[in-house]
Amino acid sequence: MNRDQFLKVTALAGASILLSDIELLAKTNRTKLRVAIIGCGSVSNRYIPHLQGSSLIEIVALCDIKYDRALAQNQQYKVNAATYSSIEDLLKGVPFDMMVTLTDMQAHGDLNKKALLAGKHVWSEKPMANTYAEGKALLELARKNNLKLWGAPAVVNSPQFAFMSKCIQDGKLGRVASAHGQYGHTGPGWSAFFYEKGGGSMPDLGVYNIATLTGLLGPAKTVMAMTSIVNPERTVDDKGTIKVEAEDNAHILMDHGRGIISHVMCGFNYFDPYGHEAKDQQLHSIQIFGDKGNLRLIGYDWETNGVVLSDSWDRPATLHEKESGGYVWQEGATVVGESIINGNNPRIHVEHALHVLEIMEAARNSSSLGKRIELVSRFPWPIV
Ligand SMILES: NC(=O)c1ccc[n+]([C@@H]2O[C@H](COP(=O)([O-])OP(=O)(O)OC[C@H]3O[C@@H](n4cnc5c(N)ncnc54)[C@H](O)[C@@H]3O)[C@@H](O)[C@H]2O)c1
Repeated sequence: MNRDQFLKVTALAGASILLSDIELLAKTNRTKLRVAIIGCGSVSNRYIPHLQGSSLIEIVALCDIKYDRALAQNQQYKVNAATYSSIEDLLKGVPFDMMVTLTDMQAHGDLNKKALLAGKHVWSEKPMANTYAEGKALLELARKNNLKLWGAPAVVNSPQFAFMSKCIQDGKLGRVASAHGQYGHTGPGWSAFFYEKGGGSMPDLGVYNIATLTGLLGPAKTVMAMTSIVNPERTVDDKGTIKVEAEDNAHILMDHGRGIISHVMCGFNYFDPYGHEAKDQQLHSIQIFGDKGNLRLIGYDWETNGVVLSDSWDRPATLHEKESGGYVWQEGATVVGESIINGNNPRIHVEHALHVLEIMEAARNSSSLGKRIELVSRFPWPIV
């Protein structure tokens, strides 16, 4: 019996699946995870080659409602995959194990749910759902059906994140008090969804800093924020001139407990000559302060160029982890996909992605209500 037949039988029996999907894969003796990509736009240009670089992964399907994009990516990257123009056709088409969701942010929750209901593991670009409640329901659905679900970003995988986390855990900074993260540029110009309801600079940009700071300092307990729309109108490639409906400017304060407070600022109106490009970026985008030391991360947390540690009154600050060690921001789907085949636990944890989603929702609520919002979600911490 192959895996698909097995899944059909268990579904028909209405039984809870007793074997984990990892065990199922092992039973089929398959050595490659079959991946379907939904959304063949800008970011797929980074995901497709990275997934193709893995000997444990095979891209078997590409899907986009703008069907010509699925065809074009299939040809450009010589994927040799089946191509589809809707998730319904994708799920009825060639068999696959994991869906990689790279569509407009607003579509993620619905598409991820459909994939999980069809028995597929899911890696989702951020955010994994549109609301915390929707994300939580997706996780419950995945767990009920013995499936894996993960959400971007993959910042916790960088050696710079590991270095900073170990410094904090080893007490090199003394008692940690405050941290700051910032990420902004002048905004994507290709798609309207970044500015429409459910888009915004928080789920597109701030999400990285929120994942980094909660990953380093622990889950946030409460959030206060101010968000605004600085630029009410934009001109974008796919829809021309549009009204900006989601925040393009946000300041988020997080209370991590133990007296630790962090702050993230993000926006689509930040002049930065480096723009989307991280190479050679020297900005200290993440800063962590304790009473015996401080850490400053060079470049963006998703593509960093090192960490400066200052922990002495008389010795100069030292530069650490200048190399990426193979880490790239677009590696998330590959790393989790390989973990299914290898049977190991990746550092990226879905409960962390869910926590970040709750923070972004709380930030919007805090801003509109003018009050501090309590959070309920947690994730396994420390990560490193
Ligand atoms: N572009 C980047 O550099 C980048 C980097 C990191 C993360 N991301 C994230 O990746 C996601 C996609 O961003 P992008 O820049 O590639 O956007 P994009 O507009 O270039 O591509 C999105 C694609 O999804 C397709 N799509 C939308 N709804 C669909 C549906 N229901 N079914 C099938 N296809 C559908 C669109 O037709 C489009 O081709 C977003 O969550 C974004 O935050 C983008």
